[in-house]
Amino acid sequence: MTTAEILDEIAQQVAVCEKCELHFSRKNAVPGAGSITTEILFIGEGPGFHENEQGLPFVGRSGKFLDELLESCGMDRSTVFITNVVKCRPPGNRDPKTEELATCSRYLNRQIEAINPKVIVTLGRFSMAKFIANAKISQIHGQPRWVRGRLIVPMYHPAAALRLGSLRPVMKEDFAKLPQWIEEARRAVPDPSPDVVEYADTTESALDASAAQMDLFGAAPPASDTPQAGDPGEDDSSQPSLF
Ligand code: URA
Ligand code: SF4
Repeated sequence: MTTAEILDEIAQQVAVCEKCELHFSRKNAVPGAGSITTEILFIGEGPGFHENEQGLPFVGRSGKFLDELLESCGMDRSTVFITNVVKCRPPGNRDPKTEELATCSRYLNRQIEAINPKVIVTLGRFSMAKFIANAKISQIHGQPRWVRGRLIVPMYHPAAALRLGSLRPVMKEDFAKLPQWIEEARRAVPDPSPDVVEYADTTESALDASAAQMDLFGAAPPASDTPQAGDPGEDDSSQPSLF
């Protein structure tokens, strides 16, 4: 399957997914949007009111601020892909629960595999925690690190800066360095990223097994006894440190 086919399939699957209770508060699932050939993936938390209405990520106030941040460092959302750790709106914008994150991670993991980005910008603590365990965002924001062959750049969530104005200049400073990190990652990660990803088996049970293996939240998805692989949230210390 091509990247486009895989992303389309995921969009169709999340639209009707009932694997966690967030489907009850869903009007439109928000699979993600943007360039599918990008080297840069942004991962937020979950759809809010406007995203749920439109089925698109970051279209409310947080999205406007994200656009401003991107523009301030010479970037544009059409050149990146933007998604969330959960694809359906948590009721009242509450935090996603551990089991919802674990269940929905099967979709995000396939998106990461299909897009194969060199750089992943995490927005807020939930997407940060997928890659970096036991970290405090106030301590590591704006400081990239290699995790399993990709450069992870943890950023505050734009909504945090809307709530606490003093974070605005901090986020601007962090984003100002983003082009430099992207350049570093381009130099470090060999081209080209494959645009065709072959899946031998896309049956539900195979996807469940692969989601369980790739699960990084530490909780196994329901109805799966597949052992967890890897070390959740651990840095890839075998990568050369550039920073
Ligand atoms: N906040 C998020 O984390 N994601 C969105 O898509 C919108 C707001
Ligand atoms: Fe399915 Fe994810 Fe929506 Fe839960 S949040 S219902 S796992 S698509």
